[in-house]
Amino acid sequence: MTVPNTPFVSANWREGTFANKVVFCTGGSGTICSGQVRALVYLGANACIVGRNRTKVEEVAADISTVRPGSIVLGIGDVDVRNPDRVNAAVEECAKRLGGIDFVIAGAAGNFLANVSELSLNAFKAVIDIDLIGSWITIKATLPHLLRSAEKYKNDGKSVPNGTGGRIIFVSSTNYHSARVAQAHVCAAKAGVNALSNVLSLEYGPRGITSNIIAPGPIDETEGLRRLSSPELREEAIRSVPLQRLGLIKDIADATVFLFGDTGNFVNGACIDVDGGTWRVKGGA
Ligand code: HXC
Repeated sequence: MTVPNTPFVSANWREGTFANKVVFCTGGSGTICSGQVRALVYLGANACIVGRNRTKVEEVAADISTVRPGSIVLGIGDVDVRNPDRVNAAVEECAKRLGGIDFVIAGAAGNFLANVSELSLNAFKAVIDIDLIGSWITIKATLPHLLRSAEKYKNDGKSVPNGTGGRIIFVSSTNYHSARVAQAHVCAAKAGVNALSNVLSLEYGPRGITSNIIAPGPIDETEGLRRLSSPELREEAIRSVPLQRLGLIKDIADATVFLFGDTGNFVNGACIDVDGGTWRVKGGA
């Protein structure tokens, strides 16, 4: 199979791992989430990505579908995660056209640098609404489908002949457990996202659903890094990472494949910090 951007493929991945599986992803046209979905589609899944910008979502969906001939990648635009009606409609369209939903990635996020003194109530609320309430709306809409998938693919951890289902990943930030100047809105929102995931892991674990978090640190060539850093600060950013490099989008995809695959069977209520150890040094990406 010829794959564009071959550096995104990891040596540990096994083709067909996610055959017959469907992933629903908010923020799916963004730099990080599109990388996650690209990996899952490459490994056999079909996907539905949603976002606000219709043209961008459709273009990214078409691009992702090229990684595996025969894959189906729906791109549904005009979906703001703050609008429950639009999210519900997209979820139902995804389930109807692709036959269900096995995995959910709640990745839609908003971010900008602003000190508390510069933040209006509306600005603070915009990020809480997108990151936290948007995640809640996404989970409420997809839970019925995840429950069906978890029931279908439930396993005792010893054998998973048909693969896995009923799994959630929230894309958070290392800011959830630290603080960062000019990020009060994001730190508050992501702390809430992590709390939401943790409670879901307790409430839905008994029904076979796992809920986990990936917290990216400074990941190269992402919208987040562009918003929070600048080309002039690149070398400084690299030096701040214990591993002395910026993360790759593939690093986030690797964690995603781990959590959704049978490698993640007994991982529930966890947060994987994919940040090269950065937050332990400076308290966040
Ligand atoms: C202060 C700002 C501001 C800024 C917007 N606002 N930008 N305030 N400084 N730089 C204020 C506006 O003035 C307004 O308040 C309020 O925020 C809402 O702005 P709108 O533009 O009306 O809202 P909306 O169109 O919904 O935009 C949402 C947004 C925007 C979050 C503000 O940035 C956005 O759409 N972002 C989406 C893409 C994105 O951010 N991706 C990055 C993801 S990366 P007033 O009072 O004027 O009405 C990421 C990484 C996290 O999340 C990891 C961290 C380490």
